[in-house]
Amino acid sequence: MSYKSHSHAQWSSRMAFVLAAVGSSVGLGNIWKFPYMTGESGGGAFVLVYLICIFLVGLPMLMSEWLLGRLGQKNPISTMGDITRRLKRSRAWVLIGVAGILGAYLILSFYSVIGGWALAYIQMAVVDTFSGLDNDSVGTLFGNLLASPVELLLWHSLFMIMTIGVVVGGVAGGLERAAKTLMPALAVLLVLLVGYAATTGAFAEGAAYLFTPDFSKITRDGILAALGHAFFTLSLGMGIMMAYGSYLSDDVNIGRSALIVVVMDTVIALLAGLAIFPIVFANGLDAAAGPGLIFQTLPLAFGNMAGGWLFGLLFFVLLVFAAWTSAISLLEPLVEWIEERSPLSRVGSTIVAGLATWALGLATVLSFNIWGDFAPLGMFDKFAGMTLFDLLDYVTSKLLLPLTGLATVLFVGWFMGRDELRSQLNMSDGAFALWRVAVRFIAPIGVVIVFVSSL
Ligand code: PHE
Repeated sequence: MSYKSHSHAQWSSRMAFVLAAVGSSVGLGNIWKFPYMTGESGGGAFVLVYLICIFLVGLPMLMSEWLLGRLGQKNPISTMGDITRRLKRSRAWVLIGVAGILGAYLILSFYSVIGGWALAYIQMAVVDTFSGLDNDSVGTLFGNLLASPVELLLWHSLFMIMTIGVVVGGVAGGLERAAKTLMPALAVLLVLLVGYAATTGAFAEGAAYLFTPDFSKITRDGILAALGHAFFTLSLGMGIMMAYGSYLSDDVNIGRSALIVVVMDTVIALLAGLAIFPIVFANGLDAAAGPGLIFQTLPLAFGNMAGGWLFGLLFFVLLVFAAWTSAISLLEPLVEWIEERSPLSRVGSTIVAGLATWALGLATVLSFNIWGDFAPLGMFDKFAGMTLFDLLDYVTSKLLLPLTGLATVLFVGWFMGRDELRSQLNMSDGAFALWRVAVRFIAPIGVVIVFVSSL
């Protein structure tokens, strides 16, 4: 089913709904971003803080977005408009929807470039580039890709075309059906990779790195990064889940569905970490290598295992697929906004939104080569050495998403009536009370503390 429809259809089943939500949430955030952030921000301590953020802030927040969407039955901006009008609350809450659209636009601009890297690696796998790679050549391979603006641009363009194609064609339904098999396939492949990692001789080291917290290794900024990533990986703070909730029928249990999505998302991320870090340590690679981490470790494994050619190909195909389903959900909010506010048709709106995202993506493409030393906010200590890509990532994950998230939980926790919420959440009294405490106190206080202390 498509994300938008004027008659406001509903999900064909709870399964279809959960699958679409998993499709949006599981993506590059789990497999590309989570491992490299863990490596950069303190290993086990980062993972622990991340898990706490996921369950204490992300889960209640996901439920909040879904229930707002189900109450409003419209796109995020109109939903917030309707609900605030009905409850006689300030119209300013509508800014949640506006900030969400902006966030999704900024994120997709760099998400597509990274999706392009994964496409490039499919091509490399096809021509058997990985076989026999060693530590140095795997780095050179990645370095060469980044050094070429033209190549990055081509892959970024292809990824955007794929994304636009699905949104224009309204074939998201077909993609969802594909997701039903491909997402589990991705999970199976990750488990097999973890199995391979177990043979590298550094599995215990990798697992200990992920699961033994050493709090001297995490900074305040690392904690903010963990919080921001909880939002990013669950697609929160952008109105996307709110929009999904607007198609939700009343009999779907929001709490249980949210738990399923959160657990799946977390399991995929942890599996990715368990697959990658043993390979990192067994080969003496740098855990803090940054955004290139998976592209510099996994090909090493593919190049040195039996059947690695096929394995590598499958892996990058599934990675692109996971990124694709997320990218579609990132493009939708802007498309819908343009369609509502301009005379453009659905197709026209999608093309304009896609072109605008593609154009901003050039900033990320160039950040890895020609503009590699260009730090637009370098005069501030905090942003020293940050490229445009770094800034886009910072502004979205560390500012926009936590702030819209904060606004959402404040609204749901303090400006909506208990009874209305109770009727939306079909759960035990105990679970409901717990959820309400999380939404009223834990999540907002947590976000404020993390935020203020890191600024
Ligand atoms: N959650 C997706 C991921 O982890 C990214 C995403 C963010 C998708 C925000 C939609 C909205 O890759």
